Parts: sequence; structure tokens; C-alpha cells
Amino acid sequence: MERQKVIILDFGSQTTQLIARRVREIGAYCEILPCHITLSELKTAAPSAIILSGGPASVDGDGAPQLMHGILDLQIPILGICYGMQLLAKELGGRVHHASKREFGRAPIHILGNSALFANIPSRIDVWMSHGDQVEEMPSSFACVAKSETCAFVAFEDRERRIYGVQFHPEVFHSQFGKEVLENFVINIAGMKADWKMASFLDEETLHIKDTVGDKHVLMALSGGVDSSVAAALIHRAIKDQLHCVYVNHGLQRSGELAEIQSIFQELLHLNLKVVDAEEEFLNALAGITDPEQKRKVVGRTFIEVFERESKKIEGISFLGQGTLYPDVVESVSAHGGPSAVIKSHHNVGGLPERMHLKLIEPLRQLFKDEVRVLGEQLGLPNRLVHRQPFPGPGLSIRIIGEVNKTRCDLLRKADAIVREEIDAAREQGKLSKNLWQWFAVLLPVRTVGVMGDGRTYGETIAVRCCESTDGMTADFAHIPHELLAVISNRIINEVHGISRVVYDISSKPPSTIEWE
Ligand code: XMP
Repeated sequence: MERQKVIILDFGSQTTQLIARRVREIGAYCEILPCHITLSELKTAAPSAIILSGGPASVDGDGAPQLMHGILDLQIPILGICYGMQLLAKELGGRVHHASKREFGRAPIHILGNSALFANIPSRIDVWMSHGDQVEEMPSSFACVAKSETCAFVAFEDRERRIYGVQFHPEVFHSQFGKEVLENFVINIAGMKADWKMASFLDEETLHIKDTVGDKHVLMALSGGVDSSVAAALIHRAIKDQLHCVYVNHGLQRSGELAEIQSIFQELLHLNLKVVDAEEEFLNALAGITDPEQKRKVVGRTFIEVFERESKKIEGISFLGQGTLYPDVVESVSAHGGPSAVIKSHHNVGGLPERMHLKLIEPLRQLFKDEVRVLGEQLGLPNRLVHRQPFPGPGLSIRIIGEVNKTRCDLLRKADAIVREEIDAAREQGKLSKNLWQWFAVLLPVRTVGVMGDGRTYGETIAVRCCESTDGMTADFAHIPHELLAVISNRIINEVHGISRVVYDISSKPPSTIEWE
């Protein structure tokens, strides 16, 4: 059975993803599609309701994205938000006024009449505005259902055709009753059921993968990260032994990682997992390299070489599984060039699908990170994996400042394990901020003098990096209690032979970055 869904057509708003979040919070499934798809592509998606997002353009501007021809004849309920509303006005014979000044921020509005869009919402609410243009004249069949001091038509409706427009942004947290407006549209007006849950996604997606793969085989690179782990567990649920996972051991992992992957995927899930030991190959490739970007390139290139070489040894593969997430797919939309899909380079295994003629299976491509974690829990993956801290693709190579070699990797691994042990324990006791994002050790290329027992030492330096963040884009250094820092420092210097000094990184991002390289 086709899943009921809302299709959000993306006209380039910064908040399109937020619309999707709100719709899913209501319990309705939705997908975002670029505004330039064809009518037949839209019909294939079979929406029960359509939302037109906002966007940066002016409806009459050069090359401004337009409403696709025929969409209004589909008799599917439509809600236009901001630019989406203005497009509806223009398309149906109204007029849009190009304002020289933008209205931005909170604004009180008055609800008029008894529109179903504003059912059970007070007649005066504050909403979030962010627009230059606004509707100046409504199409003739429309009625105005909200107004404000600065905007005569804050919302309009053609009740019969179930077409609605709002000038404000109901998806934004600052819009009072914004979620209720979306709920009124999706549930009451479009008649969808609020029954979408991760459990139904899990079952539907399992069937979908089964159908798509048939009796063919799927290859996947496991990295130990949340996304590829959840994707692999989901694909495995659908096709069992037809999934073949490859874990490239590059020797740049944290302590215990390989054993953990094996215990989860081989012992718990009984998944076909091939571990390729390529530590020497990576360390040889990295020898003598100190430039951070160069390290990234070498690790990336070596990974592709090893993965491709090993993949060719597994016969009969038709698909490549990937843990691509929703934000990786829709990264940026430009009003002129049209929406563009950008896939992070570390997700796509360097052109391998084309070279090996593999089709992609990306079961998470409609999900957000927190949804992926919920899915991971439902698939029975352990908490420590599902909620693990982000770890960069180039691994410890970018946490070893200067040259990377086995001795320095081992030193860092030991110090890092202590940082993680102590911070994890304090977190479990609720002693640290819930916003802690990453906590790890960095090995510096600095030797300093120390004294141990009666002797003088001349050892390496470890920097401890702990930061708080919600998305990794900005970050503050975490205020870890001094007593805990003292324990970490003492343990590292006493237990890791070769380290004689520990420092704490007190820089925030920006202007610093989270990683040191
Ligand atoms: P920065 O250091 O840029 O890090 O503040 C932001 C977030 O991105 C992670 N990071 C990487 N992840 N490949 C990755 O997969 C990389 O090359 C890379 N560099 C940084 C970092 O751990 C943090 O979460």
C-alpha cells in the first residue's frame, strides 16, 4: 500500500527542512522535492497534500522559480508559505507587490472569519515574518483569513478548492500556534491520518528494500559511524545474507573500535562482515605527511583504493548501500540555478557506483539524524553505538599534529581512551552538560620536560578537547570541572608512557575549529 504523504516543494527557503520536521512531528510522513520537478514526477510521488515552501526570489524576478503547470488542477490540497503564497496569488490572477523594505521578525496578526486553517487558534497571535514582497491583490475566488498592520493579506483561502496561503512561517518556533496551523492543514483539511511513526517506517522500508533488491546482492562500507551502521542493520533486516559489509581497518580508529564493530555486527546481528586489515597501507601512505588537507586526501584516496579492491573480490554485487541522510541530500537550493543535490564526498565512495555499475540503496535518505538514532534503537543496535559522538572520517590522522606513525597512533589511542572513560562515566552520573558534543585527545608535536620519581622526563604533550554544540557548526569549549580534568591529566601522565604534559583546549568555534587539523 502506498504510504500517505505530504510533498513539500522546495523553492529555496532556509526553513524548508523545518517544515518537514514539523509535519513529521504531527505524525504525517513527508518528503521534500525540488520545485523544478515535472508534473508527472509529482504525480508519481502521489501526495495527499502539497506544501509550497518560501524562497529568496521575487515571483516576477528574472529566472524566478514558478509553479509547475497543471499542479492546481490535481485537486490536491495546497498550502503556500511566503513565496509559495505569492506564487499562488500570481498564478491565479492576483498581484504581488515588490516591497523595497523587508519585514523580518515577530509580528502580531488578526485571524478573520472561521477558516479551517486557523481552527482552535486564538484570533490574535504573534507569528514570524521574513519577507520583502507580499500579496497586494488576491485572486478573485479567494477570501482573506488573516491580516496585520503591515500586511493586508497575511493568509488567504479558496475553501472550495482547498488552496491556502500564509505570508508568515508557521514552521518556525517563534510562530505561535504554527504547528497547529500545519496540523489543521495536513490533518483536518487534507484529511491525512496522524499515524506515521518510526515503526511504520521500519516495516515499510524493509519491504521496499526487499522489493528493490529482489535476489540480487548489496555491498556496503561500514565505518563504525551511526549512519552506516543503522543503514546496514536496516538493509540486513530486509535481505539478510544478500548484504555484504566491508570494514576497512585503517589503523586510525580509537581504542576498541574494531572489536566493538565485530561484536555488534558479527556476533549480535550475524551479518556478513569482511574486515580488511589495511593499517600498514594507510600508515605507509601517510608517512612524512604533515599538512592537514593532504592527510585527508591521502586517507580518502587510500580508503577508496582498498575498498574497491576488496569489493571486486565479492562476486555478484548489483547495489551499493549508503547511509546518506536527508541533510546530505538537500544541502542547498539556489533560486537561479534551481535546487541542487549535494552529497558529501565522504559518503559517496568516490565514483565507485559508476565504475562498478552499481545502483545505490540509501534507506535513510529521507531521515534526519535524530530520527536515524530512533531507528537504530528500534533495530536493536546498542545505545553506545546509536548515541556515539561524531568521529571524523580521516580518524586519528587529523588528531595527531605533525607526522602520523604507529607509535604516535598508539600513544594517542591510550590517552584518548582515558579521556573517553572518564567523561563517559561523569556523563552517566549526570555530572556534565547534556550538550556535550565531542570529547577526545589530541597529540601535539611538542615535547616538554617533566619530572617523575627522581628522574627528568622529556615527553610528548596531550591536549584534551571537549566541546558543546548542537550541530558541529558552532561550538563552545565545555566547562569541565577542574577535579575531573585533574583525574584525566593524572591518569594520562601516569598510565601513558611517553606523555609528560596535558593541557586543556579553551577555544570555541568560531574562530577555532573543533578538530585541531
Ligand atoms: P571542525 O573541526 O570543522 O569539525 O569544527 C566539525 C565537525 O566535523 C567533524 N569533522 C570531520 N568529519 N571528515 C569527517 O567525516 C572530516 O574530514 C572532518 N573534519 C571534521 C568534526 O569531528 C566535528 O564533528
